[in-house]
Amino acid sequence: MKQYKLFSIDGRPLANEICEHLSTLTDSDIRVGKFKIDQFSDGEFSPQFLESIRDKSVFLTTTLTSSDAIIKLVLSIDAAKRASASEIIIVLPYLAYSRQDRREGHRGSIGGKAIADLIKNAGANKAILFDLHSEQIQGFFDMPVEHIPGWVAFTEYVKELDPTCDWTVCSPDAGGVKRAMRFYQHFVKTHETATFSMLSKLRDKPNSIERMDLIGDVNGRCVILIDDMVDTGGTLLLAAKLLKEAGALKVHAICTHGVLSGPAYDRLSGENGQYLDSLVISTSIPSNFHDKIKTVSCAQPIAKTIFAMTRSVSVAQTLLPL
Ligand code: R5P
Repeated sequence: MKQYKLFSIDGRPLANEICEHLSTLTDSDIRVGKFKIDQFSDGEFSPQFLESIRDKSVFLTTTLTSSDAIIKLVLSIDAAKRASASEIIIVLPYLAYSRQDRREGHRGSIGGKAIADLIKNAGANKAILFDLHSEQIQGFFDMPVEHIPGWVAFTEYVKELDPTCDWTVCSPDAGGVKRAMRFYQHFVKTHETATFSMLSKLRDKPNSIERMDLIGDVNGRCVILIDDMVDTGGTLLLAAKLLKEAGALKVHAICTHGVLSGPAYDRLSGENGQYLDSLVISTSIPSNFHDKIKTVSCAQPIAKTIFAMTRSVSVAQTLLPL
């Protein structure tokens, strides 16, 4: 077994929860390592490991939701490298810029690739990533990547869904069909009458929807929308409205990453919010309370992945099925 330590760059309780799961899996007391980040008056960050990491596998957890979080991660990787960690494994429940997975227009950047390059060049050796916007983003990271599919965090929640309903699994756009289809493959094992449908979404600019159309029949059915993230809530709530207008009895949504920026909370409480019965997100990003939102922890699949990596055994077999 590899000697390893886990540190939280963002100081979120998720790291403690991951350690609790690891302690259960290993039957030993695993704790988050001592680490701090100072900030200077001009805004610059300065990370410091407060315990030795020499020749250790070092897991660095942080949710990348902001540009500051990216800089903190890059500096922390650099600090770990200079403190003689034997390998540096980044654990990112959410990866910012992942929607920028191709060049926009003729002279735009590929944000996701640029961020991956920063992380690699700082000295990270491996990555654990959770429900990427598209699986191909793994290829941006020139290192082994363990990609945890989003649905594994929601298996317990799915068991609570009313078995007497005729369910339809729905993707809110063409880009999410593969993810929704993978969810459907598991869902249909327990909900045999389940069908699949999708919406087509045309965007005129980021976070703005020009047009959305339903492909499939949801009349008299309960719909579960599957998306990797809910950001401003525009996609989700327009989808819920269209589905209800098409005769859906209930519309529930599972969105792995609750970005919930800008008008999201107001929208959930607003006019179109009435069409959505519930929204389930994971703890990959901290969220505020809202009576429509339920959160499901993503600590267990992350802990299982770390456990498998430190034991040098198959991540896939450790993780799936949960
Ligand atoms: C788009 O490709 C994503 O999967 C989400 O549907 C989208 O980013 C959500 O953004 P918003 O909530 O602002 O519509």
